[in-house]
Amino acid sequence: MTQSKLELADPVSGKKAELAVHPGTIGPSVVDISGLNKAFGAFTYDPGYGFTAACDSKITYIDGDAGVLLHRGYPIEQLAEKSSFMEVCYLLLNGELPGKAELDTFKTSITHHTMLNESLLRFFNGFHHNAHPMAMTSAVVASLSAFYHDSLNIHDPQQREVFAHRIIAKIPTIAAAAHKHSLGQPFIYPRNDLDYCSNLLHMFFSVPCEPYEVDPVAAKALDLLFILHADHEQNASTSTVRLAGSTGANPYAAISAGVSALWGPAHGGANEAVLNMLEQIGSVQNVPKYLDMAKDKSSHFRLMGFGHRVYKNFDPRAKIIRAMCYTVLEKLGSTNKPLFELALRLEEIALKDEYFVSRKLYPNVDFYSGLIYSALGIPRSMFTVMFAVARTVGWVSHWAEMISDPAMRIGRPRQLYTGSPRRDYVEIAQRSR
Ligand code: SDX
Repeated sequence: MTQSKLELADPVSGKKAELAVHPGTIGPSVVDISGLNKAFGAFTYDPGYGFTAACDSKITYIDGDAGVLLHRGYPIEQLAEKSSFMEVCYLLLNGELPGKAELDTFKTSITHHTMLNESLLRFFNGFHHNAHPMAMTSAVVASLSAFYHDSLNIHDPQQREVFAHRIIAKIPTIAAAAHKHSLGQPFIYPRNDLDYCSNLLHMFFSVPCEPYEVDPVAAKALDLLFILHADHEQNASTSTVRLAGSTGANPYAAISAGVSALWGPAHGGANEAVLNMLEQIGSVQNVPKYLDMAKDKSSHFRLMGFGHRVYKNFDPRAKIIRAMCYTVLEKLGSTNKPLFELALRLEEIALKDEYFVSRKLYPNVDFYSGLIYSALGIPRSMFTVMFAVARTVGWVSHWAEMISDPAMRIGRPRQLYTGSPRRDYVEIAQRSR
């Protein structure tokens, strides 16, 4: 598609601007608004960046109206059915599906970066026993820069690759250490004979006093959940990583900023909030009462796991996770079936309700995922950490894409100023307050 132009004219002042329009491979074009300020001295105004393209990217494409999600062009449904999390990591980082030798080399590299420096491991003992695991995770991820100085030079492609493999490899070890600290149990070291998800489950659930066998059904379910959470375009935490990274901050600090942004209940914290909400609702009889609360702005109650800034159709990931619930909960003998049935009924009732239909509020990735994490034995407080484990590859991929772009500039949004006009200082004796 060729580039076109947008003519803008102010009939009052007679000022004109010609704005370049850039087409994407697929999806909406973008209007380059830099000429707007030159011509009219104005900024664009888009609180929450709902209609602003902050960058161009080749990693993920979302069509919110059609419920489409592509990673490097591959539909999420096909990756979920045919790929593995390690293969999706390679794809997101490198842009192409790996050959067998490339995938084996990649997996070997990840496997050999899973251990944490012993001094770093001792950080966990400094946290209070009831510290939220996301607090521990964000702190320890940022602290990686204090230990691994051979991967801080953001201008060196080789150091960028070492960073990428190191953080993807260590984030499960950090998650497991946070979990073990919360339990007061000894840390369990990673094993090089286990695959990525089996290793995480081993570090979570092994104890020194007896053998632990990872359930392959659980490992496969986790692998699929991680594929579904790996990346999602310019979401809040990924945009945070890009903004932090654009200052030249070290990559571990940028990823730690992403962990913190993900924590909020409007974002990655929703999976934990959904389970709390389902338990609060308790039974189908209470659903109408809670839907009324969700419609009443003064209640400050929202239907967690519902709605999305981009998807105005079913989140394709939610559909896949809902289907997983039917098989995985059965196979794992989960006690979550009543909550799953409640979630299904809640979805069914909400999607017939005008408030939700008119606002195009559908279940998102977080609505069903907690039911599976819980069936795997993962405590609710760890759900958002699991999201962070999976999303780390997405954050790293976007960070690397930005850092390797020669045109990269520090991110610095502007504002509409609505405060006081200029005024002079008043001595305290003259103040009326
Ligand atoms: C993730 O961006 C991503 O890609 C994120 C993510 C990823 O993979 O990175 O997909 C992961 O964060 C999923 C979203 C998880 N969050 C939740 O499930 C929390 C509950 N959902 C919402 O708070 C909300 O839907 C957001 C935050 C997800 C989206 O917020 P928006 O786009 O700012 O939507 P909005 O607040 O402008 O809502 C539009 C209307 C409003 O009503 P009106 O002012 O038009 O009357 O819909 C209402 C909202 O009050 N609304 C809800 C609602 N979500 C929106 N009302 C009740 N319950 C809800 N969940």
